Amino acid sequence: MSFTFKDFPADRDDLRADVLNGLAASQKSIPPKYFYDEAGCRLFEAICAQPEYALTRTERALMASRLPDIAAAIGPVDCIVEPGAGDCAKVRLLLDALHPAHLVVMDIAGDPLATAAEALSRDYAGLAVTALGMDFVHDLEAAAPHLPAGRRLIYYPGSSIGNFPPDAATALLTRFRQLAGAEGQLLIGFDLKKDPQRLHRAYNDAAGVTAAFNLNLLERLNRELGADFDPSRFSHYAFYNPVAGRIEMHLVSLAGQDVSVAGRRFHFALGETLHTEHSYKFRRDEFSALANSAGWQLAGEWEHDGFAVQLYGSR
Ligand code: AVI
Repeated sequence: MSFTFKDFPADRDDLRADVLNGLAASQKSIPPKYFYDEAGCRLFEAICAQPEYALTRTERALMASRLPDIAAAIGPVDCIVEPGAGDCAKVRLLLDALHPAHLVVMDIAGDPLATAAEALSRDYAGLAVTALGMDFVHDLEAAAPHLPAGRRLIYYPGSSIGNFPPDAATALLTRFRQLAGAEGQLLIGFDLKKDPQRLHRAYNDAAGVTAAFNLNLLERLNRELGADFDPSRFSHYAFYNPVAGRIEMHLVSLAGQDVSVAGRRFHFALGETLHTEHSYKFRRDEFSALANSAGWQLAGEWEHDGFAVQLYGSR
């Protein structure tokens, strides 16, 4: 077992600048990556356990039931790379099936990542684990020196790719291809287009956990930027936009109000929205067209109950 942790704290300290820019725009918005402070990570875990939000359970069931096929399609791999690995739970199935010599995990939440990755390195004798505390969207290329030579598999599960607008998704997949190298592969999971009512329920769970997750963003800004948002004066609002093929998540101002953030004042009109997330849904052919435009070639695909996993090789 070997375990290495490297933190890149200075590179991910953009909260203040991103929030001030987002609040100054005519459509106010905050990047969804800022959902995931400690409370946000806990709330996201709770979302995944809600009966209406099947995405995570469905992907797990698909991976468990199709693992032998998926592993056979991938073939021998020297290194698995997982951007946004979080608690490192999902990659365990792949480690069991593929037995790579190296695992490189990255996440913006460096400390919880290090704890999870070290535990994993204890469980897999002979696996060299490297944990990189970084905002990989910003800094993916900084991971390259930490990757061993050989066949690399980039693993990007959980439909996280759906949280990027299409142009940004293509750009990220292109950077994954460059990081993976000539023999590299990509195994990616994404949520499929389905009955809009079912999608609507998934982002409007009866227990109000998604609402709490959305509103936690305001509490985070109060805690970390000395803002004075009153969360009771904003309402969680999420809906499926079938024209754009995405869930849109907003916080709607319930009154005309001024808010102070990092020493600057911003006005919210009654009914004005703060946009917090897009979650794109795809057909399988739509997604492979997007991956093609990033230089990836479809090599296998699996589907279960409205969720898909696709395997790509470099062209
Ligand atoms: C992380 N990501 C794939 C989730 C999603 O479904 O877009 C985040 C989420 N937002 C609200 N519920 C879950």
